[in-house]
Amino acid sequence: MGSIKVAILGFGTVGSGVYELIEAQQERLIQLTGRRVEVVAVLVEDVSRQRDVRPDVLVTDDFEDILRLPELDVVFEAIVGVEPGFTHLKKAIESGVQVVTANKELFAHKGIELRELAEECDVQVGFEATVAGGVPIIGALTQLLRMNRIVKVEAILNGTSNYMLTKMREEQMTIDEALSEAQALGYAEADPTNDIEGFDALFKVVILSELLTEVKVDWNQVRCSGISNLTSGDINHASTRGERIKHVGRLLIDEEGQVEAEVRPVSVDEAHKLYSIEGVDNGVVVTADLVGELVFQGPGAGKYPTASVMIEDLVLISKSIKKTAVSR
Ligand SMILES: NC(=O)c1ccc[n+]([C@@H]2O[C@H](COP(=O)([O-])OP(=O)(O)OC[C@H]3O[C@@H](n4cnc5c(N)ncnc54)[C@H](OP(=O)(O)O)[C@@H]3O)[C@@H](O)[C@H]2O)c1
Repeated sequence: MGSIKVAILGFGTVGSGVYELIEAQQERLIQLTGRRVEVVAVLVEDVSRQRDVRPDVLVTDDFEDILRLPELDVVFEAIVGVEPGFTHLKKAIESGVQVVTANKELFAHKGIELRELAEECDVQVGFEATVAGGVPIIGALTQLLRMNRIVKVEAILNGTSNYMLTKMREEQMTIDEALSEAQALGYAEADPTNDIEGFDALFKVVILSELLTEVKVDWNQVRCSGISNLTSGDINHASTRGERIKHVGRLLIDEEGQVEAEVRPVSVDEAHKLYSIEGVDNGVVVTADLVGELVFQGPGAGKYPTASVMIEDLVLISKSIKKTAVSR
């Protein structure tokens, strides 16, 4: 039995989670893919730092070392920002290597381009982890709702801002206090701009829109505001009406495939399915013409939830790996 050989680009929270789950879940992976899954290399920025990997794993800061590896089957990408991830994934796809990414900023900007290239090169691109972390919304939309026409998506897609809004309401925190607590707990980045200005949710709305319509989003047409200007007064005012302010990404898709997209704080009442999505959870409410309304809820970020859906992507594309493994 040969093995599926994988490289992990980026070895921070998500990349190390992928490594640990692969190491810990070999038996299940063999059952599901028919082969062992072997991490053969890791790409990092700072090679001088000690990494907790088997001694035979190549640790490098040069992606060319990884491309030169014989029989590489899959690249997992978990770096931050559009570059260098985009260039690396392009080269991997052109070399016939399957790719799985968690990088929403990269995929929001370059997702269509990468998916088209992958189709030309007959490889698969897994991007489940780019939207709603551990919640398998991409798989549900692409594989389980194919007969249905999706007419609306309303979603809480940023766990950090949802956590902050929950704390501001429940514990009367100011936005600064809520942000400090989110940072102390590791939910918010040291630079929280993408979370609190709404950009992180915008990336995910763009990815969903392009997935559902196959049309590149004109970012200027998407209204985007975050939670940074909200005050305790706004939160309390909503509470007095029995409502909660949620940061919501919304897509409306008409019969011609025209999309209206926006990301902004919205006051929702108890009847709204997003009302009870609290803390760091994400929630996605999908309305489709045949099935009606569906609600997906779960951890929108975190090491193992995110790594888990990346490995689900690996399992899904493992059938294609067998095919390319023979032809390469
Ligand atoms: N954290 C989450 O819960 C989560 C959830 C869903 C999606 N994501 C996405 O997953 C990606 C990774 O997030 P993370 O939280 O794991 O980030 P992170 O902890 O900051 O890790 C980033 C990793 O990328 C490496 N890196 C940075 N620049 C590089 C370069 N030029 N070349 C090679 N490697 C480079 C870093 O190397 P060093 O170790 O040497 O610094 C580090 O290992 C991001 O795109 C994020 O949006 C994260």
